[in-house]
Amino acid sequence: MTTQKDSKNWRPQTQAVRGGQIRTAFQETSEALFLTSGYAYDAPEEPEARFKGEQDGYTYSRYGNPTVTMFEARMAALEGAPCARATASGMAAVSAVFLSSLRSGDHVVAARAMFGACRFVVEDILARFGITSTIVDGTDLEAWQRAITPATKLFFLETPANPTLAIADLRGIADLADKAGARLMVDNAFASPALQRPMAFGAHIVVHSSTKYIDGQGRAMGGMILCHEDFLTQHLQPFLRNTGPTISPFNAWLHLKSLETLSLRMRAHCDNALAVANFLAEQKGVRRVLYPFRPDHPQYDLARAQMDGGGGVVTFALDGAKDEAFALLRALKLIDISNNLGDAKSLMTHPATTTHSKLSPEERAKLGVSDGMLRISVGLEDPADLCDDLEQALKAPRV
Ligand SMILES: Cc1ncc(COP(=O)(O)O)c(C=O)c1O
Repeated sequence: MTTQKDSKNWRPQTQAVRGGQIRTAFQETSEALFLTSGYAYDAPEEPEARFKGEQDGYTYSRYGNPTVTMFEARMAALEGAPCARATASGMAAVSAVFLSSLRSGDHVVAARAMFGACRFVVEDILARFGITSTIVDGTDLEAWQRAITPATKLFFLETPANPTLAIADLRGIADLADKAGARLMVDNAFASPALQRPMAFGAHIVVHSSTKYIDGQGRAMGGMILCHEDFLTQHLQPFLRNTGPTISPFNAWLHLKSLETLSLRMRAHCDNALAVANFLAEQKGVRRVLYPFRPDHPQYDLARAQMDGGGGVVTFALDGAKDEAFALLRALKLIDISNNLGDAKSLMTHPATTTHSKLSPEERAKLGVSDGMLRISVGLEDPADLCDDLEQALKAPRV
């Protein structure tokens, strides 16, 4: 096996293509897929030394696998993180951070605008183990400050948030976490490391659903946790080894190879999304368009300061409610109706009846999720075709 030399000095695009590569004796150019659960040894002393931690090497793919290691090393290089661990899904990553580091009596502060399953973990699962939480408006720094108690151990937020694309002030919130002796975990799924690197603003932990833009083609589930060495050794590593939310080497290989084109794809997603957002803002029947890199976004300056592009998601509100939103969805001829995002294919969802349907109407109102709101994950098609589809769907009669 050979590893890359001088890789620490490589720029991000070189890291995306070559970071973390380990070559076997065959000197393959494309990273190898090690679809194995176990490893064999020449003598019994070898596994003994490895299990004692006295010798490097793989022992079992729940603990580590060379393809997974390559994916982890490449993600760490792209996020500017000391350590990375891959998981079976984004939710496995989020849950592992919470469950590995918190204990009964601890307190979490989390931004209201978070993925529905994350909210279930915070408010239902953690509560069962005596871990309390306070939900705040993630864009309001004073609300984060006010929520801190002596028991606060973890802050959690998603930026841009789903589906309102609200932007949280990473530097400001990381500073508050530092002063409180807590860690800030950021869900970076909507931006990906190609557009935003939260650790550069002081975040302590970054999580990903690599199912989204990292895969980029809607094929395979995966997740990633980026963190510092102390968090890995004291909390995460023993939890992952023993509870087993392990990514399949095949999915890790797909996502590793997808990183090679991540920044090219994200640039195209951003260009297409901005074109679609600008088009929608001019259309009759569209009340409001939300896109972080449009100057009418409430946190436009903050988005420009901490992101390299506005991302691939555009949210808009129609004049009208669920009937109008469903009529538009029914009339689509190109864009698919789907609650997933981060695919090369454009996908549209109605958050109030899908991703945010478990929230009460009052909670949805607090978040700004109306019945007339639609979210588009803008793909890599020609944006003129996407706009044509939206134009004809907006004109379609309500049936
Ligand atoms: C922002 C965000 N975080 C986390 C997740 C969970 O990821 P996964 O579906 O890979 O478990 C999702 C999935 O939709 C998401 O959109």
